[in-house]
Amino acid sequence: MGKPNICRLFLVLILSYLSDRANGRVNFKEIDAKLKQLNKPAVKTIQSEDGDIIDCVDIYKQPAFDNPTLKNHVIQVKPSFDIKEEKSSTENESSKLVISQTWQRSGSCPEGTIPIRRIRREDLLRADSIDRFGRKPREIVSKSSTTNHSYSHFPLINNTNIIPPPLVNQSVAMLFTLGSNFIGAKGDINVWNPRLSSRSQEFTTAQIFVKSGPGDVFESLESGWTVFPNLYGDRRTRFFTHWTVNSYSSTGCFDLNCDGFVHTNPQIALGAAVEPVSTQRGEQYYIPLGIYMDPTSINWWLKYGDDTPIGYWPGTLFSFLNHSSTLVEWGGRLYSPNVKKPHHHTKAGMGSRHFASASYGKACFIRNIAIVDFSMALKYPDWVGTWADEFNCYSLYNDQQTSPVLYFGGPGRNPDCL
Ligand SMILES: *[C@@H]1O[C@H](CO)[C@@H](O)[C@H](O)[C@H]1NC(C)=O
Ligand SMILES: *[C@@H]1O[C@H](CO)[C@@H](O)[C@H](O)[C@H]1NC(C)=O
Ligand SMILES: *[C@@H]1O[C@H](CO)[C@@H](O)[C@H](O)[C@H]1NC(C)=O
Ligand SMILES: *[C@@H]1O[C@H](CO)[C@@H](O)[C@H](O)[C@H]1NC(C)=O
Ligand SMILES: *[C@@H]1O[C@H](CO)[C@@H](O)[C@H](O)[C@H]1NC(C)=O
Repeated sequence: MGKPNICRLFLVLILSYLSDRANGRVNFKEIDAKLKQLNKPAVKTIQSEDGDIIDCVDIYKQPAFDNPTLKNHVIQVKPSFDIKEEKSSTENESSKLVISQTWQRSGSCPEGTIPIRRIRREDLLRADSIDRFGRKPREIVSKSSTTNHSYSHFPLINNTNIIPPPLVNQSVAMLFTLGSNFIGAKGDINVWNPRLSSRSQEFTTAQIFVKSGPGDVFESLESGWTVFPNLYGDRRTRFFTHWTVNSYSSTGCFDLNCDGFVHTNPQIALGAAVEPVSTQRGEQYYIPLGIYMDPTSINWWLKYGDDTPIGYWPGTLFSFLNHSSTLVEWGGRLYSPNVKKPHHHTKAGMGSRHFASASYGKACFIRNIAIVDFSMALKYPDWVGTWADEFNCYSLYNDQQTSPVLYFGGPGRNPDCL
């Protein structure tokens, strides 16, 4: 063993000792076992300029197949349905599709494989718990904080006011609709890179939720963009998916960090950075996303635009979403222990960090919002509610003037939000 090797060995020992200390208790055996389970053998490996490693994995060796209920699952190669919109008049030529992910500049995955962002040891060392790695925090209804009713609009349904509950450790600015038979939802999500602190569990999302379930235990299918330094190791804007069948308490995850989502697209990697992002009064970029239940297979497909399937959540994972969805939400969320607390509010941004009132070119938008019901037609929901927990920190504006455009976001702490 040469000198450099010994030096490196020492360095590794010191580093692992330090991270051991920082974490309190680190079980390396547990970490190695988790890494082995998460990272499947690669047919080809692509080193991305942004530091990510993308493994091209045999499509039948992806994490989904670790799920006992999917042991004999035969992959659905493409959706059996086609829901298309007539070219909408709202198309604003001044906005552009986000078409690339950073890693794509460094190579592509061969046929029969899918790109998976590799999880590294340091990603697990940053996590609060190995067990909950890659999963959103549990949703707990707050008993003390309230939603700012003066700026939210909760419709009456059957004489009952539908009021979403205020949640602990997160601030919400969303549009939602309720019904009994949604089998799809879509929206074009404007892409930004809001500032967040990297030394905390804080993260923000701009996303679509498709949900179902009784009481406060819900099943959800989710996709959009997020900035989540603790999970991904940097502050880039990343394309993500998430799912759960019990309000995040013990099931589901972001991307392919657990067994569930069946990825089919060889070009788009879950959790990878997207580019370019929008700039103030400059070019506006968006990701067109849709989540649709395949009426034949009951799988829920995630599609990029009309023509590009990304993968699907098998219907067999769900007890309520195996039929339809009852709640769809669009907008932003800011997850942090420092929200809804006077005098210590986080400075983390949602959306573009501009308030919704800043409008096009400055505030983050979602447009071409639509749902699908059993008529299999895309349409704007019959009614919508808006929901903003802390309007002075993160606001929301559903612009109905021409065709509806949802603006949302904000800077967090400011003189009106302390
Ligand atoms: C379309 O883009 C222009 C800026 O070029 C903006 O003023 C207008 O509000 C946009 N319309 C919509 C519906 O987003
Ligand atoms: C709700 O928003 C209004 C208008 O911005 C503000 O005056 C009020 O203080 C807010 N209430 C709460 C509880 O945050
Ligand atoms: C409202 O009540 C009617 C009749 O009881 C029922 O069929 C319908 O599903 C209810 N709507 C919702 C959204 O609960
Ligand atoms: C959905 O799942 C539940 C619970 O597993 C089951 O009772 C129900 O029959 C399923 N529905 C469909 C349409 O498969
Ligand atoms: C909220 O965040 C704090 C700080 O991380 C944590 O101690 C607490 O358990 C969280 N509460 C819930 C309900 O998750």
